[in-house]
Amino acid sequence: MSAKLQAPRGTYDVLPEEATRRAAVEAAAARILGAAGYRRIETPAFEATELFARGVGSSTDIVQKEMYTFEDGGGRSLTLRPEGTAPVCRAYLEHGMQKLPQPVKLWYLSSFFRYERAQAGRQRQFWQVGTEAIGSADPAVDAESIVLLAELLDALGVREVRLRLGSLGTAETRATYREELQAYLRAHEDRLSDEVRARIDQNPLRAFDADHPGTREVMAAAPRLLDRLSGEDADHFATVCALLDGAALTYEVDPTLVRGLDYYARTVFEFTSDALGAQSGVGGGGRYDGLIEQLGGPPTPGVGWAAGVERILLAADQSHVGEPVVDLFVAYAGEEHRAAGFQIAHEARRAGLAAQLELAGRSVKGQLKQADRIGARYVAILGEEGATVKDSESGGQETVEPGAVVHHVLRGRSL
Ligand code: HAM
Repeated sequence: MSAKLQAPRGTYDVLPEEATRRAAVEAAAARILGAAGYRRIETPAFEATELFARGVGSSTDIVQKEMYTFEDGGGRSLTLRPEGTAPVCRAYLEHGMQKLPQPVKLWYLSSFFRYERAQAGRQRQFWQVGTEAIGSADPAVDAESIVLLAELLDALGVREVRLRLGSLGTAETRATYREELQAYLRAHEDRLSDEVRARIDQNPLRAFDADHPGTREVMAAAPRLLDRLSGEDADHFATVCALLDGAALTYEVDPTLVRGLDYYARTVFEFTSDALGAQSGVGGGGRYDGLIEQLGGPPTPGVGWAAGVERILLAADQSHVGEPVVDLFVAYAGEEHRAAGFQIAHEARRAGLAAQLELAGRSVKGQLKQADRIGARYVAILGEEGATVKDSESGGQETVEPGAVVHHVLRGRSL
């Protein structure tokens, strides 16, 4: 016997109950982002590999280890998108969006692919809802975009959310700082863990994340990038903080916040939820003022974020993302009433009601049970005397002509 076919590791099927909860995420995003002038964009599931090598950065884990790259029949190297910022910037350039009033504010909800170690909240195919605001260096765009993500997480009932905020300054500031940090680490080498010591050249910033007691002591007094920002970058950061304070958003300035993508400059931020386990990052983003230029465009600033849909749902209070509404369930006592029932359900849907007809040949008792199971507000039972319409909310019932059922439900619903 052949082995059972299963979805590949790190992927999963979105079953109807889950699809309903996702639809709630999409609806909240459309409402909250739409109200702030963001418009939806969708880019292809795969792109030229070069886009990510140039955009995300060839030294990142994503590009080095996590991309699904393949050659197509024409010998082109293509990659399933591991993230959305580089593709949206590519689309911005390709469609001449620099001619539109700036900033161009876009949002997306799409699937992304990374070859990562799969576990709860970390998949190989996952979904992100994200925004990109391209064409303005105003710190108000950073603050607005952060506030919008906070609002979205709140609307979806994501629990125990914390926001960390930092600034990376410019690439030059970072390069100078890196040298300073390396020199500091070397001067205290004897107190560092072997692992941190081995990575001084490669990734000195990792030392801030170490659990090793000696390393932690050394790092407590280490120079911090946030204290080395240029005047302009420091002003930009101060304005972002002041705007967030004005919006009464709680955040923690984290001078060591690092992100896994190379394109960031200035503001970076991350939302975590303590309701999640090890994969506590719900969403994150920042400013990427050099990215468009790196993709061959004119110098153009940008800022955005992405949040993992699976992680939002894992961290959300279940009651916030409810089941679909069913206004009417049409039941019937005997097959001779089925055609009338069919017509009523059809008419009800044309009138804008969510209506379902009995389709499994159940007894009347079984049909009432089914109506209850799906949470139908009204049940119409067709029989010899006409249609008995029950209101599950008030407990009341009334017998009407079959042709009057839809009107009856519409009137009842608007009361
Ligand atoms: P990112 O931090 O790599 O940023 O991903 C954003 C969010 O996607 C994470 O916080 C997490 O919730 C979710 N996520 C990432 N990888 C996985 C995975 N393997 N499984 C499940 N969820 C995952 C970006 O992708 C940037 N493009 C964000 C951005 C937009 N920056 C500026 N604009």
